Amino acid sequence: MTKTELLEIAKCAKENAYAPYSKFQVGAAVLTKTGEVFTGCNIENSSYGGTICAERTAIGNAVSGGHVDLEMIAIASSGEQTVYPCGICRQVMNEFNQNMIILCESETGFEEYTLPELLPKGFN
Ligand code: THU
Repeated sequence: MTKTELLEIAKCAKENAYAPYSKFQVGAAVLTKTGEVFTGCNIENSSYGGTICAERTAIGNAVSGGHVDLEMIAIASSGEQTVYPCGICRQVMNEFNQNMIILCESETGFEEYTLPELLPKGFN
């Protein structure tokens, strides 16, 4: 599984976004250390605080599928600018791999980060 392939899966996952309020679709694909891929999309709620981000949906799918060793996550959105994971999602990533690789779709392909770059001094 290449990084480009993981990003393509995240782009497909975006198509299932339930985002009637923001109209902002997000997809995520997480790669486990043993090579499985789990996807997620954002799931909004009329009580806005009940919204779940795509990254947490994907991570939840991996964990509920029995995989807690996560290697990398790719994120894609319907926006024109690069989307970066929110603070809550960064902390959730931190739970499963303090050095997770994060690929954020960008105009030219993707930007690549490690979790410590996006979440210095995360809570453990
Ligand atoms: N959202 C994500 O799914 N992931 C992000 O990294 C940023 C924001 C969603 C939440 C909400 O449904 C919409 O984007 C607008 O904030």
